[in-house]
Amino acid sequence: MKVLVTGGAGFIGSHIVDLLLANGHQPAVLDNLASGSRANIPLSVPFFEVDICDREAVAKVFQEFKPEAVSHQAAQMSVSRSVREPVFDAQNNVMGLLHVFESAAAVGAGRIVFASSGGVLYGDVTTPAPEDHPAAPISPYGISKWVGEKYLEFFVNQHNLGGVALRYGNVYGPRQNPHGEAGVVAIFCEKMLAGLAPTINGDGKYVRDYVYVADVARANLLALTSPLPTPFCPFNIGTALPAHTNILAEQLATAMTTELGHAVPKPTHGPARAGDLRSSLVSWDSAARHLGWKPQYSLTEGLTTTAKWFATRNRTH
Ligand SMILES: NC(=O)c1ccc[n+]([C@@H]2O[C@H](COP(=O)([O-])OP(=O)(O)OC[C@H]3O[C@@H](n4cnc5c(N)ncnc54)[C@H](O)[C@@H]3O)[C@@H](O)[C@H]2O)c1
Repeated sequence: MKVLVTGGAGFIGSHIVDLLLANGHQPAVLDNLASGSRANIPLSVPFFEVDICDREAVAKVFQEFKPEAVSHQAAQMSVSRSVREPVFDAQNNVMGLLHVFESAAAVGAGRIVFASSGGVLYGDVTTPAPEDHPAAPISPYGISKWVGEKYLEFFVNQHNLGGVALRYGNVYGPRQNPHGEAGVVAIFCEKMLAGLAPTINGDGKYVRDYVYVADVARANLLALTSPLPTPFCPFNIGTALPAHTNILAEQLATAMTTELGHAVPKPTHGPARAGDLRSSLVSWDSAARHLGWKPQYSLTEGLTTTAKWFATRNRTH
């Protein structure tokens, strides 16, 4: 199947591209390289350096490649930037998304999978939230993900497509950008490799649902290819297992110490970050029931693989 992956040069998108190739599909990538890198995707994969905000350029890519399905990962990713620049957020995450969806419908693509977010939709939850947990986004980023889902549902009904919104937990793994505000695992890896102590915000007792990127890529493959129970489906993609930042830092330090053969600096605590949720967890029961998906990587396995990847990259750069 021909699949256009927007944001395919980024962290999650590039793993989706790899998995599509491994399963005999034909992916192409549309990305403006705002945070992604051409080096993340094989040279054999058709690459269109295009901004989703450019309606005509997006339409041209769709006319040229004629995808049968779309995996929409491209987005403005920063919650704090969305608070500072809500218009920029909406240009990318609402208008850009509409350009992708209208072009997909125009070329008759049969399925759209959209990268949504559990954390920003459900807010503070201490037990794993199911998909029908009331959405209460508070940041422009969260609002744009919610609106994106609503637009997807509209396109599904209007154009007779299949649509899946995958509401990710906190995704981590190889190729994550360590220079953003999110992606605590990547940020801590870079610090540890530089011989510096990672800084834990506040008391570090912030519960998150960390899901390994290979599991997220597999959820995307299944969402692109499986029969759907209803034309539009939202599915949570996480582990439902609570892990707080202090535990994460400890496990990562163990993995990095094993990888490097020497101890890494112990984390220090900095000020708490305003607006950080205390607890965020998602239930993946529905993805298990309808897509046959379940997380396969434990946190220890995922962190070990991630530490190895960052350490190897550090040695070769
Ligand atoms: N990483 C997480 O924990 C997480 C959690 C929930 C949801 N998500 C969503 O998953 C998707 C992928 O995130 P990621 O973690 O891989 O981030 P990423 O920054 O690595 O990937 C985003 C990609 O989109 C591209 N992009 C950004 N703006 C673009 C534009 N205007 N036009 C074309 N391309 C553009 C970037 O260059 C990058 O390659 C995003 O939609 C994000 O909101 C991520």
